[in-house]
Amino acid sequence: MRPGTMKSLCLLGASGSIGQSTLKLVDQHPDRFRITAMSAHTQIDALIDLCRRYRPLQACIADSSLFTALRDGLRAEGLATTPLAGSEGLQDMAADNRSDTVIAAIVGAAGVASTFSAARAGKRILLANKESIVLAGQLLMQTVAEYGAQLFPVDSEHNAIFQCLPAHGGRAGVRRLILTASGGPFLGKTRAELATITPEQACRHPKWSMGRKISVDSATLMNKGLEVIEAHHLFGMPAEAIEVVVHPQSIVHSMVDYCDGSVLAQMGEPDMRTAIAYGLSYPERIDSGVKTLDFRTLGRLEFQTPDTETFPCLSLAYTAIGRGGNAPAVLNAANEVAVMAFLEGRLPFLAIPDIVAQTLDALAWEPAEDLAVLMASDAEARRYANNRIH
Ligand SMILES: NC(=O)c1ccc[n+]([C@@H]2O[C@H](COP(=O)([O-])OP(=O)(O)OC[C@H]3O[C@@H](n4cnc5c(N)ncnc54)[C@H](OP(=O)(O)O)[C@@H]3O)[C@@H](O)[C@H]2O)c1
Repeated sequence: MRPGTMKSLCLLGASGSIGQSTLKLVDQHPDRFRITAMSAHTQIDALIDLCRRYRPLQACIADSSLFTALRDGLRAEGLATTPLAGSEGLQDMAADNRSDTVIAAIVGAAGVASTFSAARAGKRILLANKESIVLAGQLLMQTVAEYGAQLFPVDSEHNAIFQCLPAHGGRAGVRRLILTASGGPFLGKTRAELATITPEQACRHPKWSMGRKISVDSATLMNKGLEVIEAHHLFGMPAEAIEVVVHPQSIVHSMVDYCDGSVLAQMGEPDMRTAIAYGLSYPERIDSGVKTLDFRTLGRLEFQTPDTETFPCLSLAYTAIGRGGNAPAVLNAANEVAVMAFLEGRLPFLAIPDIVAQTLDALAWEPAEDLAVLMASDAEARRYANNRIH
């Protein structure tokens, strides 16, 4: 082990797709990273199994009703890991001073409180939970600055932009950010063809292997909409200077367009380990296990305009940025409810944007200065969207 280089990681959402990719990097670099804390929502057996493998100091099951099962399971394994539960357990773990880095990889607004907790504790945060920054972007950026935390985008597009921006972090000379979108599994389809889409079809992404919620977001293009909001806050760029271009091969992960005509792109295989590795080791680079691009066999790289008639979620996200205040929180909450209903077979695929649009139009505008107000908007939007679906 090289002294002084070991990072202690609190992995929120350890049982998920980003969680698993992070653990592969930990396995690859045991001399650099150790897991001090990990969480899951309901997958209790998976969490106990991970504790057996990584022996963290703390483990949290977000579903509090499973606390006893976690405590007993850890005991039965003879592990000294402290069991925690619920949102408070997640927040305590994110703030615990025995970890220096928090990987925020919970899906949905359920990840907001722990992301803020990590920010208030001045942690180095690898942010995969894009919903945190969509719901409360301005406040999160303020909290990060106020408490001296560091935010590293793990979303591959934002990680790409982070890599292509000037090293000193300024925006001088930056004309546009160009986010690439794979187009999802239904690229080129008409609305009529999407009428009978099933959750299994929507979750079968052509390029990326991801959790079910983000896979559906990718299929509706809402994922790209959330990413536009995320880029707006992370990089302090106005919505007009953030452009989305469809790039089905998912090789160019995003680009920065400079005023002198230079466009810098970050490229690589579509594998989240590249972005996570960069966040974990920044400013160094480490081997991520991702294979290198072979330009001789890569073939064509295509770029096209997104079809916002068939996939209106992207336009809805721009509308939410334009309205500001609680509108992105409302958009995010309505989308989470609609996606869950679709995944459970209660809502057709094409109705997802309808629910989001109706909720956005129905709820009163509120300023985004207070997390409590935003969380209240989130709850109200969930109630409204659920009622519409019923
Ligand atoms: N996967 C990707 O390639 C990718 C790329 C870019 C950004 N992201 C973002 O990263 C985040 C995670 O995505 P993912 O694909 O890894 O999702 P995922 O595979 O569905 O995993 C989600 C994780 O969050 C936990 N979780 C779910 N609901 C929770 C709740 N209510 N409270 C606390 N924990 C909860 C899950 O626990 P259980 O397993 O117990 O349910 C699991 O550990 C999302 O915000 C997504 O947008 C993902």
